[in-house]
Amino acid sequence: MVDLAVSRLGQSFANPVLLSSGPAGFGLELAPLFRSKPLGGLTTKTVTPSPRQGNPPPRLVDAPAGALNSIGLANPGLDEFLAQVLPELRELPTVRLISFAASDVQGVEAMAGVLGEAAGVDVLELNLSCPNVEGRPPSWDSASTRELVRAATRATCTPLLAKLSPDVTDVVPVAAAALEEGAAGLTLVNTVRGLRIQRDTGRPTLARMWGGLSGAAILPIALARVFEARRAFPEVPIVGVGGVTDLGSLLEMAMAGADLVGIGLAVMCDPELPWRLCVELKQWLCRRRISRYSQLVGCAHRGGVDVCRTC
Ligand code: FUM
Repeated sequence: MVDLAVSRLGQSFANPVLLSSGPAGFGLELAPLFRSKPLGGLTTKTVTPSPRQGNPPPRLVDAPAGALNSIGLANPGLDEFLAQVLPELRELPTVRLISFAASDVQGVEAMAGVLGEAAGVDVLELNLSCPNVEGRPPSWDSASTRELVRAATRATCTPLLAKLSPDVTDVVPVAAAALEEGAAGLTLVNTVRGLRIQRDTGRPTLARMWGGLSGAAILPIALARVFEARRAFPEVPIVGVGGVTDLGSLLEMAMAGADLVGIGLAVMCDPELPWRLCVELKQWLCRRRISRYSQLVGCAHRGGVDVCRTC
């Protein structure tokens, strides 16, 4: 018997696989899959205080081994989310992680207070790292991260993940600021800021110029950030996101230190992938006679998987 369950963030996740925020929207199109087989959790598209149209098109372009998006946090806003989306999410047999963002301290505090009280919100994920809106992503510096996480955690007791940008020299001080202000864990990482240029015109492809790179291309970057954070914070819950497209990349993310692993862009090509990965993970652990997924988490810091097996 292999045990995939993960107890973190005050929740019991049936397995470590989550939908990460963005590509699956609010996840409701995948409701039949959630009802047929367990999945650890569903992270929603980021919700903001007011509705947002997002950025003008073009806002998605392919890239080698990935895609560059400039969606711009398009979403129906908090009121619509609470009235129309959350009631449907409440029916799904999974852990609900609600991603949210606001442009200032007051907005973050108000959103955290309202969402934290709402039935069906299991975990909050504060998006501090969207590369597609005005201004610098807050998690490019520790002070802004500290200020916004403090605002969120003073408004709610619901466990809060801080979702950080990979576009920093050292993620550890930024993560430390979030944790010192009461974040219960970290989501590492958001997309990597990137650019594409149309070769026939010589102009940037995306209307807003910059975008966020996701997909297999960013796996090594995401692994490095997860590894660095796990080494600095051995006990902190970490959701590893970025470039997980198959069992091999999921294993690497766990071995680097991710308690939970988010699947993003890959679900756009293959919506059933997260569920299939749970089966493949279980088979892999079984073949290795590893009885619990948790034995795998962070084993790269402990001399590798065979060492864990004998622990
Ligand atoms: O543009 C977007 O909506 C992307 C959001 C994010 O990466 O956080």
